[in-house]
Amino acid sequence: MTSKAKCIGILTSGGDCPGLNAAIRGVAKSVLARGIKVIGIQDGFRGLVENRMIPLEDKDVSGILTQGGTLLGSARDKPHKMNMGGTIMDMTGVALANIESNHIDCLVCLGGNGTQKNALRLHEAGGINVITLPKTIDNDVAETDVTFGFDSAMTIATEAIDRLHTTATSHHRVIICEIMGNKVGWLALGAGIAGGADVILLPEIPYDIQVVVNHLKKRLHRHKRFSIIAVAEGAISKEQANNPEFKTKKKKFNKAVQMTDEGMLLVSESKACRIAREIQQAAGLEVRVTSLGHVQRGGVPTPTDRLLCTRLGTKAGELISEGLYNVMIAVRGEECLAVPLARVAGVTKKISLDHPWLKTAFATGTCLGDNIFTRKRTDAK
Ligand code: F6P
Repeated sequence: MTSKAKCIGILTSGGDCPGLNAAIRGVAKSVLARGIKVIGIQDGFRGLVENRMIPLEDKDVSGILTQGGTLLGSARDKPHKMNMGGTIMDMTGVALANIESNHIDCLVCLGGNGTQKNALRLHEAGGINVITLPKTIDNDVAETDVTFGFDSAMTIATEAIDRLHTTATSHHRVIICEIMGNKVGWLALGAGIAGGADVILLPEIPYDIQVVVNHLKKRLHRHKRFSIIAVAEGAISKEQANNPEFKTKKKKFNKAVQMTDEGMLLVSESKACRIAREIQQAAGLEVRVTSLGHVQRGGVPTPTDRLLCTRLGTKAGELISEGLYNVMIAVRGEECLAVPLARVAGVTKKISLDHPWLKTAFATGTCLGDNIFTRKRTDAK
């Protein structure tokens, strides 16, 4: 395969988020201006396997900067384990053959952790050139300061907490706001701090319900008759963290609504509902629950995300014109730079316990569900 591309393919994969169209536009405009053809691949890796491709010209990517969603469609499929009419098959060979028959010199993949792994696998299996961009509202892609989509989702979640504040204050209630983030709590932590949540519960810090209840009671004693709890959908209690069965089935346990293998709809207690029940039982407080769900992934990107997507997309164009491949474009401060994909794929960026955001939350009196900081202080004595 030649190093100077004449044609690129672009796909969006995994859960969507605001900013995907802005990133597609950034990549497409910058390579089209260099005389390189662009093919849009529909519905992520599934469209690649099913050879569903559309040429993208300048007119196709004009006017999409501000639009939410992705004009290409997205899906969570993996080429090496694809559901083909009920049978899971390895479609890697077909994906590679379609890249070759469409004369795609570089595959640009916009996605989160799953996408980074899929792109690397295709490169390793067929020697194709790939470039990835870090996309997800979860902000959990390694090697980059931030992913695109995160700022938009955080803005939505923060606004929701603001609104919950006013009604919680009026009714002197505890309101729990469940925020997306199954493995990591960046969104709950960011929006929780920005919205002034009184308690923030994250997957990274298993919570002790008694610590939470004590905090709410302390607030009551200080005549603060309402409280807001921001809880990440993947937050876990200490008991759950110590339960080996829970660890292996965490994803299943955490889904409030799920289909069984037999196609039955199972509605189980969500994380936020469970915490509400525990608080009500332990403290007799009036609690309400709001789950933000996919609202956080919808709508238009914020200006910060539009700018970020355009920076990342145009950087991809620059690297393609230089023939530099098999990298993810990471954000480091004001720079966008190329990081070997092998360093990114398979690594989840979790919140480390010494992260400055946690210290900030603690310094403003926010309860994090465990006395980690106070304990550290006592330990040090
Ligand atoms: O990966 C982004 C994300 O929004 C997670 O925060 C959430 O757990 C998951 O996707 C939901 O996925 P789906 O839209 O497939 O239900």
